[in-house]
Amino acid sequence: MEALSIIPGRAGSLRLAQVEEPPAWQGSVLVSTLAVGVCGTDRELIDGKYGKAPEGKERLVLGHESLGRVVDAPRGGALRAGDVVVGIVRHPDPVPCVNCALGEWDMCRNGLYTERGIKQADGFAARRWRAEPEFLVKVSASLGLAGVLLEPASVVAKGWEHIERIGRRARWAPCRALVTGAGTVGLMAALLGLQRGLEVHLFDRNDSGPKPELARSLGASYHVEYPTKEFDVVIECTGAPRVIAQAVAGCTPDGIVCLAGLGPEHSGAKLDVAALNQSLVLENRVIFGSVNANRRHYDAAAKALERADRAWLERVITSRLPLEDWERAYQRRDNDVKTVIVFED
Ligand code: BGC
Repeated sequence: MEALSIIPGRAGSLRLAQVEEPPAWQGSVLVSTLAVGVCGTDRELIDGKYGKAPEGKERLVLGHESLGRVVDAPRGGALRAGDVVVGIVRHPDPVPCVNCALGEWDMCRNGLYTERGIKQADGFAARRWRAEPEFLVKVSASLGLAGVLLEPASVVAKGWEHIERIGRRARWAPCRALVTGAGTVGLMAALLGLQRGLEVHLFDRNDSGPKPELARSLGASYHVEYPTKEFDVVIECTGAPRVIAQAVAGCTPDGIVCLAGLGPEHSGAKLDVAALNQSLVLENRVIFGSVNANRRHYDAAAKALERADRAWLERVITSRLPLEDWERAYQRRDNDVKTVIVFED
């Protein structure tokens, strides 16, 4: 069968080639791929800056944003042939650490977790793949291709869950939230904020292309200049040091800043530790980082996508390319929000 793979650490090694059928040890459920989403992490992997191949292998199959159809599942289980599913990216470390042992692998403490399509586990950009039922999330078939947005939505469902847990350290009645970066993750963060009844603002440097309209039709205010209002919650999705600094400075006393974006490692940005300390201590501010998602977050994200306007979700997917166009799918293009590689209509 065909799969898209790279040699981690080697730029230019991306190829579409024949690979073996998924081995039985990968899981009791066989899934046929409908689509995979492309994100910044894939491009970092392709540029040789990130990722690790499975133990004893040279190549890593890409793809961590999945959508597939169950071909075969154990009898009597929760999944049946024909169900539409998304694969969970992170798998617990083998030790396991206290969090992985409890299914909170997104909070793994020893770094020995694996991530499909990213770290030591083949991904979903293959015609077929396998997984155990506990690492599959059923999505409503009525979502169509938009089901591929579940993984990025799960990442911010976790962010919002943690914001709310932190918020409940005192009376928690947030009014206004800011999301920085109107890419897929930012748009999903805004969607979840609006579903919570908050006034949501989106900040992004693009004043043309689909982002302003996507924000406005969702019901969020769109800004190309950093807004000067004070925000109870900021979800930072750009990973850009200047924006992170603005996010920290622009939140209310007791405000919460969730850092959910990744930028280039060597940015040269300086941190005024004393000023940051004053701001955090004197006004109870919290800044925290958030990555990945566990099953609870995928389930929350699936509910959020079902509640969302289907036509809006469809518009977040700005390019749909067939597998034959895989090279184009991984190129960076202006005005692109989400590119999806369609394996099967
Ligand atoms: C993925 C996460 C993953 C993270 C770090 C992101 O692109 O969405 O699931 O944990 O990269 O590898």
